[in-house]
Amino acid sequence: MEQHIDIDELEKLCIQEKNQESFVNTFVKRLLYTLAKDKYSATARDYFLSAAYAAKDYLVARWIKTQQEYYYQDVKRVYYLSMEFLTGRALGNNLINLGIYDACRRSLEDAGLDLQDLMEYESDAGLGNGGLGRLAACFLDSMATLQLPGYGYGMRYEYGIFYQILKDGYQVEKPDNWLRYQNPWEIPRPEFLYPVKFYGEIQQHLHPSGEFHYTWVNADIAMAMAYDTPIPGYGNNTVNTFRLWSAKASRDFDLQFFNRGDYMQAVEHKSEAETITKVLYPEDSTMQGKELRLKQEYFFVSATLQDIFRRYDKKHDSIDEFPNKVAIQLNDTHPALAVVELMRLLVDERFIPWEKAWDITTKVCAYTNHTILPEALERWKVSLVQKLLPRHLQLIYEINHRFLDQVWIHNPGDHDRLRRMSLIEESPEKQVRMGNLCIVGSHSVNGVSELHTEIVKNRIFRDFYELTPEKFNCKTNGITQRRWLVLANRRLADLIADYIGNDFVTDLYQLKQLIPLADNPEFQQKWRQVKHENKLDFTAWVRKHPGERINPDSLFDFQVKRMHEYKRQLLNVLHVVYLYLKLHQEQYTEFVPRTVFFAGKAAPGYTMAKLIIKLITSVGHLVNHDPITRDRLKVIFLPNYSVSLAQRIFPAAELSEQISTAGTEASGTGNMKFALNGALTIGTLDGANVEIREEVGEDNIFIFGMKTHEVEELKAKGYDPLTYYNSNADLKNVIDMISTGLFCPETPDLFRPITDSLLYHGDQYCVLADFASYVACQQQVAETYKDQETWTKMSILNVANMGKFSTDRTIQQYADEIWGVKHTPIEMD
Ligand code: IMP
Repeated sequence: MEQHIDIDELEKLCIQEKNQESFVNTFVKRLLYTLAKDKYSATARDYFLSAAYAAKDYLVARWIKTQQEYYYQDVKRVYYLSMEFLTGRALGNNLINLGIYDACRRSLEDAGLDLQDLMEYESDAGLGNGGLGRLAACFLDSMATLQLPGYGYGMRYEYGIFYQILKDGYQVEKPDNWLRYQNPWEIPRPEFLYPVKFYGEIQQHLHPSGEFHYTWVNADIAMAMAYDTPIPGYGNNTVNTFRLWSAKASRDFDLQFFNRGDYMQAVEHKSEAETITKVLYPEDSTMQGKELRLKQEYFFVSATLQDIFRRYDKKHDSIDEFPNKVAIQLNDTHPALAVVELMRLLVDERFIPWEKAWDITTKVCAYTNHTILPEALERWKVSLVQKLLPRHLQLIYEINHRFLDQVWIHNPGDHDRLRRMSLIEESPEKQVRMGNLCIVGSHSVNGVSELHTEIVKNRIFRDFYELTPEKFNCKTNGITQRRWLVLANRRLADLIADYIGNDFVTDLYQLKQLIPLADNPEFQQKWRQVKHENKLDFTAWVRKHPGERINPDSLFDFQVKRMHEYKRQLLNVLHVVYLYLKLHQEQYTEFVPRTVFFAGKAAPGYTMAKLIIKLITSVGHLVNHDPITRDRLKVIFLPNYSVSLAQRIFPAAELSEQISTAGTEASGTGNMKFALNGALTIGTLDGANVEIREEVGEDNIFIFGMKTHEVEELKAKGYDPLTYYNSNADLKNVIDMISTGLFCPETPDLFRPITDSLLYHGDQYCVLADFASYVACQQQVAETYKDQETWTKMSILNVANMGKFSTDRTIQQYADEIWGVKHTPIEMD
């Protein structure tokens, strides 16, 4: 066909035109032509959507240019595989990274619209449970800002993490229908549609070469369709791709039924296949073993690897360059099957000899461990893997066989070690150990804080560390300052910029320039003013939304994170009850008024965590209405903790509760967000708290409680919580107030399971053992708060020393030390 139009030329013209067009013009065009709305019909949500589409228009030219450049330069790409991405809202972040936030706000203002109000119409993308998913989202921002050829790969769940409401003080879960009002950021890519097989059988054939070949037949097929979201870097032209998979029924399979005239079964099968990406599993820190979850995991890695090969094959005829062009990071064990699937694709579909395929696989894959809790380590029943992924089970056995041969060579006769290191746990029912699989199949295994890495090496994966110490390394987590300071806390970011300029936005270590200002009275005054205004904003929001009145001059004390026993929200509640008791006993001359906020979701099946929520709300109910404590002590549970709620909380916070039992929290990142916003930490020496203390100095953080080795020693010699209860009258009073029903007179035994778990079931997380130390430390907090100059100085020094905790630092380390991907600047014509 004769070509009349030069698309390339037209593209350039369009891009030029777009770059010259004002934001508000693009905005109005989007309102008219994309949404078909005018001033009579447009709703506030339409205005939000128009702003988002307009912002996306500004991203597209850079996005295409970035992706083309990756092809032209044939760069090494890193694929970050994560079953969870807790990205939250994108509009504010994208405008900041594009450098047009203020211009956009002003031009909308001229049109009578408030950008901040419009941003409230965006649904949070809640495709994650907590820290692990939020880390992945921060990583995307840093990869683009550092101009690294990086891709996020994940799942486009129709329902993200559930919406939490409180009913009579209990958590109730509601579906999170986040796609209901269209997602303006995503671009469906029906051209990237891959088949994913499940079930079926394996046929073995003897090839003329004398080798056996394997084919997977009679399998069910679901299709994976790509949806792309642009991820802009800050202040540069890089726009990376975040690709999510959505399950669609396979047409071929449907047709079998349609052709047989079985219309209803065809439709039923369709919805069954599409269930694969229906919902995010809301578990956190426990492993469930559900078949649909394993299906999700395989669906995810199969589609992703097909896509990685498609891209690689465009530029390469042989497999030899694969490890030089591809790095795959496994975010926890959820994508562990990537190791096995990569082997299957290489060995069964590309007929690469086993040794070479294994060499490629281990050079490409790297694994991040996120947990040390034994109940969270993923294991899958062999019988389930056999049924769902028959070829993969064979490959796992082969990998295991070859691996254990190596272990035996290094440790002849050590049967016990072989049993511990096997990919298969033998009893009581055979299970595949996904952590072991990840370690064996990767060239790098990293922990997420220094302390956690030591525990990985010396406790949970010690045998593996002894065999291959060179694989193990630490990449301490971080957060992106673009979202968690520049976007969330405009006042503080502006104050900092007034004194030290804006370089901290891409180089967080620049905050060190604040150190000499920590004692400066004028700067201190402005610092306090910022916090005060943020607290007033938050007070107004709490009044309007949860509908509570709080004292804005009280100490704002926050514990916000998933509800879990190891995180010890319970210890915090015990302290609140202690304060309540002391106020009643009139033991304070100068009580520092406090508002203690909690927020966090409990897994729907986690009865104890849900009961702790009820305890918090019940204590709040009594304390908040008691005339003796009014305005001096309040307890507020903020429902539906999410990224957008977090962005409100951190700027207003003064005290950050990071009080997990030492040796249980891998890193934490909430601790970093609080400190970056000027809150002081009260915490144990756990996870990244240890490094926060190193950075800010021990005078600027409140540390209490047992250290990891002390917890181990106490448990080894036999921990008896009753001795703590019987020897501490305050603690006894507090526990008795709860167990005898003071906070729930209508059902006095309601909280017995909690107090029983502490007193009679071993108090697994040593709440009672750390109670006295926690109370003493909180007294020190209150004393320090009375001296606002000292407090402000500590707050400034916390922020000044947060440089290490930017994901820019974390990602640069991953890039240099694990992935080998290079800075790739993008020039626009
Ligand atoms: P993908 O990485 O293959 O998914 O493609 C993403 C984008 O890269 C496409 O939308 C194109 O803009 C660009 N692209 C794809 N293939 C090529 C190529 O062969 N050369 C240059 N750019 C390409």
